[in-house]
Amino acid sequence: MNIKEKIERLKNEKNAVILAHNYQVSEVQKIADFLGDSLDLSRIAQDTNARIIVFAGVRFMAETAKILSPEKKVLLTRKLAGCPMANMITPHQLKRWKNKYPDAKVVSYVNTTARIKAESYICCTSANAIKIVNSVDAQRIIFVPDRNLANWVSRYTTKEIIPIDGYCYVHERFRKEDALRTRERFPDAAIIVHPECKKEVIDLADEVFSTGGMVKFARKTDKKVIFVGTEEGLIARLKRENPGKEFYSLGPPRMCRGMKMTRIEDVLHSLEKEIYEIKIPDDIMERAGSALERMLKV
Ligand code: 13P
Ligand code: SF4
Repeated sequence: MNIKEKIERLKNEKNAVILAHNYQVSEVQKIADFLGDSLDLSRIAQDTNARIIVFAGVRFMAETAKILSPEKKVLLTRKLAGCPMANMITPHQLKRWKNKYPDAKVVSYVNTTARIKAESYICCTSANAIKIVNSVDAQRIIFVPDRNLANWVSRYTTKEIIPIDGYCYVHERFRKEDALRTRERFPDAAIIVHPECKKEVIDLADEVFSTGGMVKFARKTDKKVIFVGTEEGLIARLKRENPGKEFYSLGPPRMCRGMKMTRIEDVLHSLEKEIYEIKIPDDIMERAGSALERMLKV
């Protein structure tokens, strides 16, 4: 029996489902039951009837799945697969910001720890950040922890955004010079970027999307050549799904270490041994759950 067949057999025996983020390596993307962005995957985690969720992604995503589906066993395929941005603010620091602006409400990007979500009014993802901020009944928003997403959202709201100074080391590596050169050399191509990119790169893009938004754009657009400012795993998916179009990284391909830790063998190992189980204290689960549920209602 080959590795894919073993995964398939175990999945059926154990009533498990495999969720993978768009940045996973191709072989993992291909064996996933659901492949998507943070928002898609959190919705699926909430709705699935499976007993076990195997998450091929980074820790905050598996934690989100657990918080939304507390009765399920949620497994992260690699114990140390993390997102450095999620650790750029501590609950203690966030409490200090809340004390400084008592009239503000906290909107936290899902790329945060469960403890930060528990201190937040509502969560958002890159797919719904503008809608979420505009839905909040407060004029002042403490936006945690991505400064670039905060800056992008601030263009589409009249609310005062107080950004926390976190960032994604992968997306901040996309450069203005590469965007300018691409425009010059390929005037007919489309440039699409993730809102975690720096403002100077966003300013040169045609469109700004979550990874799920990029998947939809790639299907619909008449453009034949598309330059993409996000982690290279998504580009593999775009190429696979749109054979008539060409996709390139906007400048050198950028990789997320945490996302690239999982191999197909890790998915099998995770299913076999039922590791690495996500555990979150009950009180944190409850408070973080309110912030996430509020987001899903919007
Ligand atoms: P998406 O929700 O757009 O997939 O983004 C997740 C992420 O970690 C971006 O770096
Ligand atoms: Fe975190 Fe950036 Fe990796 Fe996304 S790409 S998981 S924000 S480090």
